[in-house]
Amino acid sequence: MSDFDSLTGEWRARIAAAPDLASLEAERVAALGKQGAVTGLLKTLGGMTPEERQSEGPRIHALREAVTEAIGARKAALEAAELERKLATETLDMTLPMPTGEQGSVHPVSQVMDELAEIFADLGFSVATGPEIEDDWHNFTALNIPESHPARAMHDTFYFGADKDRDGKRMLLRTHTSPVQIRTMQAEKPPLRIIAPGRTYRSDSDATHTPMFHQVEGLVIDRGTHLGHLKWTLETFLKAFFERDDIVLRLRPSYFPFTEPSAEVDVGYTVQNGRRVVGGSDGWMEVLGSGMVHPRVIAACGLDPDEWQGFAFGCGIDRLAMLKYGMDDLRAFFDGDLRWLRHYGFSSLDVPTLSGGVGA
Ligand code: PHE
Repeated sequence: MSDFDSLTGEWRARIAAAPDLASLEAERVAALGKQGAVTGLLKTLGGMTPEERQSEGPRIHALREAVTEAIGARKAALEAAELERKLATETLDMTLPMPTGEQGSVHPVSQVMDELAEIFADLGFSVATGPEIEDDWHNFTALNIPESHPARAMHDTFYFGADKDRDGKRMLLRTHTSPVQIRTMQAEKPPLRIIAPGRTYRSDSDATHTPMFHQVEGLVIDRGTHLGHLKWTLETFLKAFFERDDIVLRLRPSYFPFTEPSAEVDVGYTVQNGRRVVGGSDGWMEVLGSGMVHPRVIAACGLDPDEWQGFAFGCGIDRLAMLKYGMDDLRAFFDGDLRWLRHYGFSSLDVPTLSGGVGA
């Protein structure tokens, strides 16, 4: 009896002294594992006489139970200590002061894109996207700009050297967002109403041109669409964007291979404190290109131009931002100068909404 008492005491002490879960596991194996000491004692029961077994059996089982219980208790204690330790090291110091001033800001281009999405969502347009690395067919051919067309030369295209598309033509950086018109008409069933904001590229660089710039494309395809729908949409858009009712538009006949008829759209301005401000009609600024989608473009996308018509427009986003927020050098948009970003950037919490205002 006393033997078992001291044996139980010994194991309890060893188990209680285990400093961590790994050593505790080692003690468990030493006692209860296949080759363990307590397991060994249990095995001796088989060779005992029934009388011996009756007296020894309960003691050995009691020992095993005591050891098992001690291991369980130690395990719980070690795990609780580990949790305590974690809680102590992973505390958040709620007394830290809030950051003074804002951290980072939303770039005016992103802001204007959000404003456009908001304004056009209200008119039932969704936002579409397409790849910036385009193939020749989507950027030109499907838009009724065949191989020999002079418009190709006017686009100052960046071509890739080795990568060829399925037609064996060099891949390129899209020169406008118009290829998204094609991709949308191919992927979705009309009626369609989309805008497609995004990056575009042309080999051109001065105060008003950067090799990478941003455009937004608009496309409506429906039955019986006409020029009046185009004019109303652009007027509604520009009034909402500039948040003024005195926006006056002037549509000038123009030429784009993918629209017929085509119109360049000017917006009227007045001069205030030596600066041109959109509104009124003292002078005219060109803001976008537009027109009725050419039947050949509709047919190239597999639609029947006798059933489906539509209008499209394309507009420089950087230029819209400059007109609305008063920057005069486009190059600063992409310099990453923190002083410029702090001055012209927007709070990330200031999400444009029609009710709250799509402006500053
Ligand atoms: N893609 C033309 C450009 O980049 C703009 C445009 C788009 C004109 C849609 C008409 C219709 O100049």
